[in-house]
Amino acid sequence: MRILVVGASGTIGNEICNALKHHEIIRAGRNGLDVSVDNTSVESIKQMYEKIGKVDAVVNAAGGANFASVSELTPELNERGIESKLKGQINLVLLGLDYVNDGGSFTLTTGVMMDDPIRMGASAAMANGGVKSFVKAASIEMPRGIRINSVSPTIVQESFARLEEYFVGFSPVPASRVALAYQKSVEGAQTGQNYEIY
Ligand SMILES: NC(=O)c1ccc[n+]([C@@H]2O[C@H](COP(=O)([O-])OP(=O)(O)OC[C@H]3O[C@@H](n4cnc5c(N)ncnc54)[C@H](OP(=O)(O)O)[C@@H]3O)[C@@H](O)[C@H]2O)c1
Repeated sequence: MRILVVGASGTIGNEICNALKHHEIIRAGRNGLDVSVDNTSVESIKQMYEKIGKVDAVVNAAGGANFASVSELTPELNERGIESKLKGQINLVLLGLDYVNDGGSFTLTTGVMMDDPIRMGASAAMANGGVKSFVKAASIEMPRGIRINSVSPTIVQESFARLEEYFVGFSPVPASRVALAYQKSVEGAQTGQNYEIY
């Protein structure tokens, strides 16, 4: 398969590339090895798809949100989660549909914070929930047998030292284990799923 991985250089993206290394992988990010894209820009997403042409799968492991308590969260701070984690991922699907071959797939990324809330996590949880609902609803009317799923990782071991204060009492998992869910989404047959790797 020819697979676009957005966020390929990241902690999770790197392990996704390892799990899918028997395929042809196109590594994307703002400083992408093969193609550059800023998922907050519609124009940038369009240009990326025009450059790479048809693929069998699109995997996204990019997109952030600001950590802030609800009383500190301003509309401006919340905007990052909307632009990047929510719209950035959904726009990859809306603008990418014509570039995915029949029977192909999209795999997006949500996260544990929507199911198991932590302090300062409301903005990320909002975006995660939006992506999860989009995936479930979109799956019933994706054209040409194209599937769509998301993966919801808990905190991964590789990020735990940096984020431990937020994820008190969580049990981190290796990013390589999270990557298996992306592999399942790409190579398997399911659609409309949100794989919880908790
Ligand atoms: N790490 C965790 O424990 C964890 C747990 C649950 C969920 N998640 C979610 O999983 C996703 C990946 O997390 P991660 O920890 O692997 O992130 P990461 O290590 O910070 O990597 C982020 C990746 O996305 C790319 N990227 C960042 N901003 C981008 C943009 N605007 N447009 C396109 N590419 C962009 C980066 O490359 P460039 O710098 O070249 O753009 C990099 O390849 C995120 O959505 C995160 O919320 C992570």
